[in-house]
Amino acid sequence: MKLFIDTANIDEIKEATKLGLIDGITTNPTLIAREGKEFMQIVKEICEIIDGPISLEAVSTKSKDMIKEAQGLAKIHSNVVVKIPMTREGLIATRQLAMEGIHVNMTLVFSPTQALLAAKTGAAYVSPFIGRLDDISHCGMDLVEQILTIYDNYDFDTEIIVASIRNPLHVLEAALIGADIATVPFKVIEQLIKHPLTDIGVERFLKDWEKVENK
Ligand code: G3P
Repeated sequence: MKLFIDTANIDEIKEATKLGLIDGITTNPTLIAREGKEFMQIVKEICEIIDGPISLEAVSTKSKDMIKEAQGLAKIHSNVVVKIPMTREGLIATRQLAMEGIHVNMTLVFSPTQALLAAKTGAAYVSPFIGRLDDISHCGMDLVEQILTIYDNYDFDTEIIVASIRNPLHVLEAALIGADIATVPFKVIEQLIKHPLTDIGVERFLKDWEKVENK
C-alpha cells in the first residue's frame, strides 16, 4: 500500500519524508488555509520535497472553469494531480482532463456508485472520505471494500486513495482490504510508529547492555 501524507504543513512534510516511506501527498483548501501562507509558495515548497503524486484541489464549480484551473495547476509540475469534486460538473471536467492526459483525483466521494462514475470518466484516483462517513455513523471502510470490488470486477485502473483518515485503525483496515493508497495526517503517521512495548523493550535492552563488561 502506498502511503501519502495529508497535509500542507511544510515542517510536517519535511519530517515525514525523512522516514523514507512517503509516496505522495494530498492537500485540500482547508489544509492550505490552515497554513496562512500564499498558495503558490506552499506548492513550490511541496514540489521541492515530494517525489511523487501531489494532489492540489481545483476550487471552480463549473466544468469549463475547472478545466482551465486544472490545466494551470498541472503546468506547475509533472507530479501534480488535480483534485476535482465529485459533482456533475466535476465529472464533465474529469472526462476532458483525462483525455488531455491530466491526472485527476476525484474527491469528496461518499458512495460506491460515485466511485464507479469517477472511474468511468477516467479519473486516475478516487478519494473516498471514510472518516467523515464514520462521523455520521456510516462505516467508511465498507465503502472502500465496495469500490475495490467494483474496480476489480471491471478492471478499472483508477487507484483508491483512502482519505479522511483519523487513526491507525483506519490505516490497518485500508491495508487489510487492499486499498492502493492511504493518505494519512502527520499525527497518525507518528501514531503508526509508536508501540509502548517497543519503547519498554528498547529501554530494557539499553539498561541490560550497561551490565555487559568490556564492551
Ligand atoms: O484527504 C481528505 C482529507 O484531508 C479530509 O480529511 O479530516 O477533513 O475529513 P477530514
